[in-house]
Amino acid sequence: MDVHESVLQLIGGTPLVRLRTPAGGSAAVYAKVEFASAGGSSKDRIGLRMIEKAERDGLLSPGGTVVEATSGNTGIAVAMVAARKGYRAVVVVSDRISREKLAMLRAFGAEVVVCPGGLPREHPDHPVNAAARIAEETPGAWLAAQYDNPANPEAHYLTTGPEIWRQTGGRVTHLVSCVGTGGTISGAGRYLKEVSGGTVEVVGADPASSVYSGGDGRPYFIEAAGHFRHPETVDDPWPSSYHQDVVDRVLPVTDRDALLSIRRLAREEGLLAGGSSGTALAAALRVGAAAGPGAVVVVVLPDSGRHYLSKYFDDAWMLRMGFLDGDEDGTRLADTVTTDESAPPLPYLPARTTVADALAALRAGRDGDAPAVLPTGPCPVGPGRRPTAPELTGSVTLEGLEAAVRDGGTTLTAAVGERPGPPLPHFGYGEPASAVLAELDGCGQDTAVVLRDGQAMALITSSRLRAALAGLPSPPRAPATR
Ligand SMILES: Cc1ncc(COP(=O)(O)O)c(C=O)c1O
Repeated sequence: MDVHESVLQLIGGTPLVRLRTPAGGSAAVYAKVEFASAGGSSKDRIGLRMIEKAERDGLLSPGGTVVEATSGNTGIAVAMVAARKGYRAVVVVSDRISREKLAMLRAFGAEVVVCPGGLPREHPDHPVNAAARIAEETPGAWLAAQYDNPANPEAHYLTTGPEIWRQTGGRVTHLVSCVGTGGTISGAGRYLKEVSGGTVEVVGADPASSVYSGGDGRPYFIEAAGHFRHPETVDDPWPSSYHQDVVDRVLPVTDRDALLSIRRLAREEGLLAGGSSGTALAAALRVGAAAGPGAVVVVVLPDSGRHYLSKYFDDAWMLRMGFLDGDEDGTRLADTVTTDESAPPLPYLPARTTVADALAALRAGRDGDAPAVLPTGPCPVGPGRRPTAPELTGSVTLEGLEAAVRDGGTTLTAAVGERPGPPLPHFGYGEPASAVLAELDGCGQDTAVVLRDGQAMALITSSRLRAALAGLPSPPRAPATR
């Protein structure tokens, strides 16, 4: 019989699929389809290896509990392996992960703890700290700690790397992979360098604002890849699973390039891959185009697009976040305000702004009939720094702040971030102006933020939209920009 004893034998051993893409130049570009693994991602390999290593080391025994902080896939892998081996699994995630991953974790029987996203690394509710606390307080618990567990890169050194070498008959010239914990690129990259005598070039692919490729760490929209750094994070060591000595270079890839790459991959190659696959793919095509004939580029696609049907493959989500142009025949938000790079900086009050400064900004912005309302949040402002959608966490109005000062609810020297009002609604630059106006009217809001590529580019008011739709000259811009 051609059978398997358990699902654990269906981990790894994933295929390499040639991509037809002309954008990759004359190089051969092959996708390592990690979502063909039983749990649906490259993380199955490390879930199994970390757990079996802990068993061998006596850290995990029957009746034990596996605890892990994860952007989803490691949790799914750990939950799947734990289910087969009879362990309890507690998985700590941030509320930024897709709802499909959450559902999958629960389907495998994991207990899921959801922490607020975008916290500084030192915050007790940061998933990594919360997971460590749960592991400490739970008898018989073992913390997998993928960011610093040597079994993570080791799993890829022992399986992913050798598979790629064997599958390409030793002809691989480039490995392109995202870097999250760094396990994949470090393990597979090290193996390929060793076995090839150092000829394989190892290239990291990174969301453009991630710190690995030199970004400032602001939020981005690709789950599980790169490294986000909250502006209040003090100490931010990189994972020890990431061995930088193995990596020749790291290419930054914008979220737009990544997302449009996976949408094309699904439609042109029939491969439904996740967001970080898009980051890796966009980088791999650049590598392929520069490498020329004879090059064999292998790009790791860590997980499936099925995890992101409600985001990257949902046109409404893509449009709202400002990743799609929308219908250019109608009046779009982009036709009513400037939303490209030439747009003046959005008026935005970093949470530490004093109430006195916020009042001055709000008064300066009082213009026409517009209510003076400004978004607030953790984003520091500076040259080229625009807040991203997750950084639009609150708002303040002139009336509200004046009343709070009058009633003693705040003081002129307090920080506005201490008691912000609700965040302003946001819309994508490609959305139809009439639909946005109807939505604003429906929720009794007057002012909203316009996003392009997930970043706040402008404020829009309903009076401005009404004027644009009526073909009238726009009322004065409101609130004025600083
Ligand atoms: C979808 C996805 N892409 C990329 C990565 C990054 O891989 P690694 O942690 O091995 O660097 C992960 C890891 O969680 C992932 O889940």
